[in-house]
Amino acid sequence: MQNELIKKINILRKKHNAVILAHNYQRPEVQDIADFTGDSLGLSQQAAATDADVIIFCGVHFMAETAKVLCPDKKVIMPDVNAGCPMANMITARQLQNLKKQHPSALVVCYVNSTAETKALVDYCCTSANAPQVVKAIPEESKIIFVPDKYLGTWTMKQTGREMILWDGYCPTHRRILPEDIMRRKKEYPEALVVAHPECVPEVTYLADYVKSTSGMLEITGNIDNKEFIIATELGMLHPLRRKHPDKTFYPASEIADCPNMKLGTLEKILWALEDLQPEITVPEDIRRKALKSIERMISIT
Ligand code: 13P
Ligand code: SF4
Repeated sequence: MQNELIKKINILRKKHNAVILAHNYQRPEVQDIADFTGDSLGLSQQAAATDADVIIFCGVHFMAETAKVLCPDKKVIMPDVNAGCPMANMITARQLQNLKKQHPSALVVCYVNSTAETKALVDYCCTSANAPQVVKAIPEESKIIFVPDKYLGTWTMKQTGREMILWDGYCPTHRRILPEDIMRRKKEYPEALVVAHPECVPEVTYLADYVKSTSGMLEITGNIDNKEFIIATELGMLHPLRRKHPDKTFYPASEIADCPNMKLGTLEKILWALEDLQPEITVPEDIRRKALKSIERMISIT
């Protein structure tokens, strides 16, 4: 059954000159058939670099939107358009406008986990891989507003020594991972190093040996000799880690850190998306141009 689906997907992806991009949290079978897997930054770069006509984006809505902002001439399709990111929806354009009014001299940095409408209102975009780098590039005397992730913001403040005005947003999945989980796992596996995503609460990142984006996790666990790791992020991450480093052992910090939205993409839905070339992601041109500026500023820094 699965092989049949994959055969059909392969015929159609060739016919439409389509590329399949999948985030590191997607279902294993989706990651396994993707042309490229990666973190938010890596996937946007793949989208920008590809000469495909169609991008099938297996991730959440803001990621597909970012691909559309970067590649307006390509058709960007999501296998399930209902796959949103709750954190991205924790700040609206109106709320951000009000916050900017309260701090008119501040520059605004926004995590890529945000809508295109939000990105269109900010000065810089950043990802979990480059937030401290982006913040460090802002002149010392500038006030900074950081939205929407207060935990990534807190971690970035610690890394850069810069004070920032934080929005009260967070990832509900990463918030499920508790410091008690890390302590329990450390007791169970005393040789293991802890690698955490910066979306985790500060009490968890404080206990981590490394704090990395999802692709950063794949890299660091290969670069160091240690054989065992406790992974504090969404559960889907265990698949690419185990696939890339079969000689190492990875333990999830928490068994309940799953992102239901990231699991909405399935092989069936990818096939339907390729058959119908929809649902297509669109971004109004004025918003796209403004959002692009904040993404380009990030790219020029990193
Ligand atoms: P990465 O950019 O590190 O892959 O993170 C995206 C995300 O949504 C994490 O929850
Ligand atoms: Fe959004 Fe969290 Fe899911 Fe990432 S894991 S897509 S931040 S809800």
